[in-house]
Amino acid sequence: MMKENLVKAFNAQVNAEMWSSNLYLSMSVYFAQSGYPGMASWMKAQSKEELEHAYEMIDFVIKRGGNIEIGQIDVVPVAWGTPLEVFEHVYEHECHVSKLIDDLLDVAIKEGDKAAQNFINGFVNEQVEEEDTAQTIVERLRKLDGHNLVYMDDKLGGRK
Ligand SMILES: [Fe+2]
Ligand SMILES: [Fe+2]
Repeated sequence: MMKENLVKAFNAQVNAEMWSSNLYLSMSVYFAQSGYPGMASWMKAQSKEELEHAYEMIDFVIKRGGNIEIGQIDVVPVAWGTPLEVFEHVYEHECHVSKLIDDLLDVAIKEGDKAAQNFINGFVNEQVEEEDTAQTIVERLRKLDGHNLVYMDDKLGGRK
């Protein structure tokens, strides 16, 4: 059985993961409407991944006898600038999420919940990948300096 404080923190993180999913879905739509089908497809895959994170957390909390409430999700931005600016936003957002995951782990540590700590550690590792992936794309887009965006679009469109 999980402590109420931790259940509350998990509910907040589930909401944040769903918000992230909507953010990336919105970026996907933006790219699709800006003539970047590959980047649109990359963002859709990213959006699905965030929803999977929410599902994993929901399943874990329910398994531990905690109560999940799916609350309202705040609106997400709908427009950005260049592909570089969009991916810079992705990188900043993932750094923010890393902080949220660290905070969630702190609650689990404070409550002495070892199972939750183990579970959350998977997301700590995941965030290392998320930041690195976004950072790598940002660096490549910076090198292209507004050129060869069709090449990058094709490349990112290859994401499974
Ligand atoms: Fe996530
Ligand atoms: Fe993420």
